[in-house]
Amino acid sequence: MSASVTRKLFIKTYGCQMNAYDSARMADVLAPLGYAPCEAADGADMVILNTCHIREKAAEKMFSELGRLKPLKVRKARDGGRMILAVAGCVAQAEGGEILARAPHVDIVLGPQTYHRLPELVAQVTRAAGAVLDTEFPAEAKFDALPETTQAPGVSAFLTIQEGCDKFCTFCVVPYTRGAEFSRPAADVIAEARRLVALGAREITLLGQNVNAYHGEAPDGGNWGLGALVRGLAPLEGLERIRYTTSHPLDVDDALVAAHAEVPQVMPFLHLPVQSGSDRVLAAMNRRHRADDYRATVARLRRARADLALSSDFIVGFPGESDEDFEATLALVREIGFAQAYSFKYSRRPGTPAASLPGQVPDAVKAERLAILQALLREQQHRFNDATVGRVLPVLFEKRGRHGGQLVGRSPYLQPVHASATPELIGRTVSVLIAAVESNSLAGTLVAEASS
Ligand code: 5AD
Ligand code: SF4
Repeated sequence: MSASVTRKLFIKTYGCQMNAYDSARMADVLAPLGYAPCEAADGADMVILNTCHIREKAAEKMFSELGRLKPLKVRKARDGGRMILAVAGCVAQAEGGEILARAPHVDIVLGPQTYHRLPELVAQVTRAAGAVLDTEFPAEAKFDALPETTQAPGVSAFLTIQEGCDKFCTFCVVPYTRGAEFSRPAADVIAEARRLVALGAREITLLGQNVNAYHGEAPDGGNWGLGALVRGLAPLEGLERIRYTTSHPLDVDDALVAAHAEVPQVMPFLHLPVQSGSDRVLAAMNRRHRADDYRATVARLRRARADLALSSDFIVGFPGESDEDFEATLALVREIGFAQAYSFKYSRRPGTPAASLPGQVPDAVKAERLAILQALLREQQHRFNDATVGRVLPVLFEKRGRHGGQLVGRSPYLQPVHASATPELIGRTVSVLIAAVESNSLAGTLVAEASS
């Protein structure tokens, strides 16, 4: 296969930011083979479904997408081409064999730890008959082997520093699909961050399923936690903002709290899932902390950074959740006050311990609780957004807005903000007076440039 031939690559990404990051890396590994991203599956030489397994009917959704792709693959062959069809991500990890049995037009099934082997798998498929399955777990090999980013990352870039999870919350598939916790060496992370900044990134979001459990090899030997890593990144010229997601309440250590107080690049916004406000449910979920521990952690963070805004994840209708348990969740939400949050009905994931617990909650009860919780969270989000009106916030502009002459960026609290501004301000942090709250964003006017 010659790199001078352009081949069309279509990647459909489901799920989390980690998957979006992985999709970009898959595009990077395939670029030297001549694959360039395209906008639709029809006519593509390779289609990758990068799947997510965390909730709901992920496998069914994937099988119906594979069904839709089948005629496109047939048409491509009739036109004398070949569409290589790959399934990647967590569904591939969990159901690899089943995919090849049920969808024989799939050529490659690969788990999240084997993306660096894509070129080899593509070569195998083009040479051989039959499909290939690669769902091993060597995270270390993956990071060592992935090529350096060459595509422009945009103003706000993601950087995976940690993968996998050893926590085994009883509802969650991640420890099974992403494997054991693995942290990249700090020197590799810093080198990748430096490249991203050189390519124009001004904000980096450090990614990991359990990002604050990060414990990577330090540049001088020993180990760095996330607090130390953030301090190691802060001196990078041009890096204006650092974020990280997703955190576990157990792993908020003093060094990380101190980084929020002392490193100005660390944004005062934290996604810290609590899942439930009931100690009984937290124990059954194997979260390994009580509701009061979460309150205490939030208090420590707010002492370090008074303006810290919080986001969280909640599950309603976990097996055995009573009305009283649910009330405890509402009480915790009222007490903490969230700027934003995600909430879900408990979904039974085969193979996880909670799936076989007694006391499964009827769907109607889950739906009712979810509606109540979401109304409360929405009200808090509105209140948080309304409180920014009349304030001047530093906004990092990322791109042009939907209307001419407008740019869109983010406040420190991750709120989208749009304002009339010229395109030279893309990639710059500018003071914006917030004038109004709109449905999905804030509207403001430029005050002055805060920094370059
Ligand atoms: N059911 C419902 N929600 C879940 N999550 C993870 N697994 C499940 C499940 N089985 C939610 C958790 C987690 C978020 C990423 O997805 O709230 O924090
Ligand atoms: Fe899943 Fe719990 Fe690990 Fe988060 S901490 S990835 S919810 S097992």
